[in-house]
Amino acid sequence: MDYRSIKKVELHRHLDGSVRFETIIDLARKKNIDLGVPLGSREELFQKAKVLMPMSGLQEVLDSFWITQKVMCDEESIERIAFENVEDAYLDGIELIELRFAPTFIREGKTIPYDLIIESVMKGVRRGMKKYPIKVGLIHIVPRALSLKESEDATTEMLKFKARSGKDLIVGFDLADGEEFELIETFKPVLERARAAGLGVTVHSGENTSSSHVKKTIEFLNVQRIGHGIKVMDDPKVMELALERGIHFEVCPTSNWLTRCVDKIENHPIKKMLDFGLSVSLNSDDPHIMNIDLTHEYEVCHRFLGVKEEDFMQMNAHAKAASFIK
Ligand code: HPA
Ligand code: ZN
Repeated sequence: MDYRSIKKVELHRHLDGSVRFETIIDLARKKNIDLGVPLGSREELFQKAKVLMPMSGLQEVLDSFWITQKVMCDEESIERIAFENVEDAYLDGIELIELRFAPTFIREGKTIPYDLIIESVMKGVRRGMKKYPIKVGLIHIVPRALSLKESEDATTEMLKFKARSGKDLIVGFDLADGEEFELIETFKPVLERARAAGLGVTVHSGENTSSSHVKKTIEFLNVQRIGHGIKVMDDPKVMELALERGIHFEVCPTSNWLTRCVDKIENHPIKKMLDFGLSVSLNSDDPHIMNIDLTHEYEVCHRFLGVKEEDFMQMNAHAKAASFIK
């Protein structure tokens, strides 16, 4: 089966976790960015820029985002990376994609203001949509590991764009990073502000944690969707709760393997989630960092997880129905 040519819908891909390797080298060269490795040492840089085998856990994987973070250094670089994300998605057979990014993460250690970061992402995405027949929405990320005050400011800027030029483009809000960083109570006010402004709400939860985290994310944050959420399968009561509430799960199998959220790929619960009747989509999370694309995830699901043609069709229908793009 040629999975590349199947029309796909993807809801969970980090724009700031997905920069082409060639673009990393080109930008580092042009902008004089020190990546700690001579740019001519391609193999060494490749090993540093990619997560190719399971790491110790989620945190070590997230710690390897610093290279993409560094090259998103100015308006031009951010615009280019946003455009290439749209181009990559189109070449992956995607007809509708929600790309997410954290302005606070991109800005760390730099002076570029939030409004220029957001505007540059929107510009790149719009250029991509002009060139390719693909629908794109943007999700605003608040990272649990970074300063809440900074995220409040970034959210204020994002909501200004939502009210003006980004009305149709900015569609969602997400909490990312590990759940152990902060109590979710801390983020409820900023989340509610985003929801009141018309953003759909999805939250990274139940990735490397537990079914009780998923339960709290559903009940306390009242989310429509959950990023990963695979630990829902550890408790039949939480499975029932998710089914009853029609929660959508944005599932990323290879990412879960690389972060050791599953011990081996054959034990990934995506097929069980589908067979239980949950709304599930298939996603790539951080494709260039993980050296994959969405087509690769179709192949993994087919080869190792018993996912069938009708399951892929079902997941694309679920994703379309759960999309924040209207
Ligand atoms: N989990 C939490 N935060 C993230 C992830 C993830 O898988 N990818 C990028 N940021
Ligand atoms: Zn993610």
